[in-house]
Amino acid sequence: MNLNIAVLAGDGIGPEVVEQAQKVSDAIAKKYGHTINWTPAITGAAAIDAVGEPYPDATHEICMNSDAVLFGAIGLPRFDNDPSNPVRPEQGLLAMRKKLGLYANIRPTLVFPSLLHKSPLRPELIENADFVCIRELTGGIYFGDKGRNEARDKAWDVCEYTKPEVERIIRLAYTYAMARKKKLTIVDKANVLETSRLWREVGQSLEKEYPEVKTEYLLVDAAAMRIIQWPEGFDVMVTENMFGDILTDEASVISGSMGLMPSASIGLHTSVFEPIHGSYPQATGLNIANPIGTVLSAAMMFEYAFKLMDEAQEIKDVVNKSLAEGIVTEDIAGKDKAYGTKEVGDWLAAQIV
Ligand code: IPM
Ligand code: MN
Repeated sequence: MNLNIAVLAGDGIGPEVVEQAQKVSDAIAKKYGHTINWTPAITGAAAIDAVGEPYPDATHEICMNSDAVLFGAIGLPRFDNDPSNPVRPEQGLLAMRKKLGLYANIRPTLVFPSLLHKSPLRPELIENADFVCIRELTGGIYFGDKGRNEARDKAWDVCEYTKPEVERIIRLAYTYAMARKKKLTIVDKANVLETSRLWREVGQSLEKEYPEVKTEYLLVDAAAMRIIQWPEGFDVMVTENMFGDILTDEASVISGSMGLMPSASIGLHTSVFEPIHGSYPQATGLNIANPIGTVLSAAMMFEYAFKLMDEAQEIKDVVNKSLAEGIVTEDIAGKDKAYGTKEVGDWLAAQIV
């Protein structure tokens, strides 16, 4: 099979971790007789510096013409530290999500048996945790009207959702729940927010179409608590854009490190596969960043974009092996020996023969 993949490495540690995922993907392609054509494209701060915008049209063209996009990370402190800057790298990520119509971000919470003892949570609390968060990705406060008054002493970000937007993401969540343990948790803040009341209303009308699925509604503050108190109580969780952003960072603690967590963003056009972590600028070029989140995002890419299940499984298997054998970066090594980003990537690729 010919796999045409756009590579948007982005900023900070993005290029380093993406390189490892490409290495592992190439090894898999070689073993299973596929040909990967990688097409690099610029985004984020790198694109602002080169052409003045974080998601140039040329990059969008490349994404639209590819079968999948492998994405690294976006963002640099020199932009964070200057709030008056009109162009920001993150706008590139948001523009990409919007223009590719990526309305759903699938974030599985993975528990690695060999890392149970590395989690700040007690092993018996998390060993049976296995849930997936479906985060709405192209609506809500991220994309609503935002601005300042003339005196610039008042600011606003509007949270908006339409019924069709809510319906398509909750329906998608139901299809995931049907394929899993048939439990869906709809997370909102319906005791305060009108948008949340719309979410709940839509949930209640769709519930009837999926009688086999046990649907529950949970307020986001309670959900935040329950994720660390009783994570095995969740199967599929669906929520709006910003709640999903926050809750999935929290949930990554279950697995032991945010550097391990992959995601798939799917929707109307080409799907994007990206780790949930950020650009970790302090680590840029130091060969210490954990490449596993991106490697597992590549596994999701084989599964979701190409339906190559064996290939995806083999990537997950070698990742588990590396964790079990302690071939890990410093974020999970603790007092044990830490390997470099590149060494972990090389080790993983070398296992695939
Ligand atoms: C994520 C990131 C992004 C988000 C940032 C970089 C804009 O935190 O993918 O979770 O908030 O969506
Ligand atoms: Mn985030």
